[in-house]
Amino acid sequence: MTAVRPARARGRRPAGLRDLVELARQARQRASAPFSRFKVGAALRTRAGEVVTGCNIESASYGLTMCAERVAVFKAVSEGLTEFDAVAVVADSRRLTAPCGACRQVLWEFCGDVWLHIVDLRGGVKTLRLSKLLPLPFDARNL
Ligand code: THU
Repeated sequence: MTAVRPARARGRRPAGLRDLVELARQARQRASAPFSRFKVGAALRTRAGEVVTGCNIESASYGLTMCAERVAVFKAVSEGLTEFDAVAVVADSRRLTAPCGACRQVLWEFCGDVWLHIVDLRGGVKTLRLSKLLPLPFDARNL
């Protein structure tokens, strides 16, 4: 399971906020964003303290581009992880970059009302619950 850092298995404490932001920052550097040049990194933490990262990956067929947050969620779910408590998103922009609408939906469905830490490269951080960004969600309970 290369996507996951088994913090506890290695005898380390579970990832704290600093670790989470740092891992998102590192993931951002791996972004493949030749078209927008807007690099984003995400780090998703399980309740047990493991971290799965993601970066945005763009396609020349623009609509196939995948955001950093969804890459992290899909990697985590594909590894069998189900319980999450926080996600950090790092981008370099004047306004803090909140997850796009599609990512809010996917985060809600797979992670529930997680804490979101939205971070820029100059040390700006905003922390809020996902429900603040998606107040009246559509999910499996509606079906
Ligand atoms: N992007 C993300 O990765 N996450 C977001 O929440 C907003 C947008 C990416 C998608 C695209 O590669 C680039 O940023 C510009 O939209």
